[in-house]
Amino acid sequence: MSRVALVTGGSRGIGAAISKELKEAGYTVAATYAGNDEKAAAFTAETGIKTYKWNVGSYDDSAAGLAKVEEELGPIDIIVANAGITRDAPFHKMTKEQWKEVIDTNLTGVFNTVHPVWPGMRERKFGRVVVISSINGQKGQFGQVNYAATKAGDLGIVKSLAQEGARFNITANAICPGYIATEMVMAVPEKVREAIIGQIPTGRLGEPEEIARCVKFLVADDAQFVNGSTVSANGAQFFV
Ligand code: CAA
Repeated sequence: MSRVALVTGGSRGIGAAISKELKEAGYTVAATYAGNDEKAAAFTAETGIKTYKWNVGSYDDSAAGLAKVEEELGPIDIIVANAGITRDAPFHKMTKEQWKEVIDTNLTGVFNTVHPVWPGMRERKFGRVVVISSINGQKGQFGQVNYAATKAGDLGIVKSLAQEGARFNITANAICPGYIATEMVMAVPEKVREAIIGQIPTGRLGEPEEIARCVKFLVADDAQFVNGSTVSANGAQFFV
């Protein structure tokens, strides 16, 4: 039986590309989404990938949703924590609601997604956790104190999980995409976006599929020794 992979935020943007790549590689894939029923239904119709609706910011909703996925598809072996939002504003204008929304979804959401399935991974002595961080967690970004904090936090999460999971054949790795051609980046004011593209030596935005390929590499059965790492995929925009 094929391994079960769960991709949060898996019906749109980078997440959709990851869901499709894993399905094509033979995994049984479940994709979560937060609100857009219509887009999720269209995604399922197009790909045959089951979608599940819950708010990753809620522990109880996540635990219930994950239990439902396991009931329907089998134990989850692979988690791709991809769901994320932006609420950009310069710090002096950032509200505490903008801070909290981003922390709840992007950072606490990772805890809520991985924690309920972690004991099962330990018991079965297999697990692959990939957290989609960001170039802006590595370098910071004007207007993104909240977002950059969560994406830097992701790196701490995977480095710690890697140490705890290693002897159970559980790996945890992060991918730091640069600027990828998704709705999130298209929402950046055009002038700012053009300036950003000017800073990318490759001369273009990345494609979601270029991130999906990194995920496929990290979740493979024979990738046990790649653990706690950060994969940068940013068109040479930034080096750690
Ligand atoms: N560096 C330095 N100064 C900057 C700046 C930057 N990168 N961006 C804006 N400024 C300056 C402007 O020049 C302007 O200065 P003046 O007032 O002297 O003219 C000032 O900041 C703008 O201030 P405002 O109070 O008018 O700012 P605003 O309320 O309009 O908000 C912003 C500005 C929300 C930060 C907007 O510039 C923005 O959206 N920037 C993009 C942030 C970004 O890169 N987000 C990434 C989204 S994609 C993503 O997150 C995916 C991923 O992982 C990569």
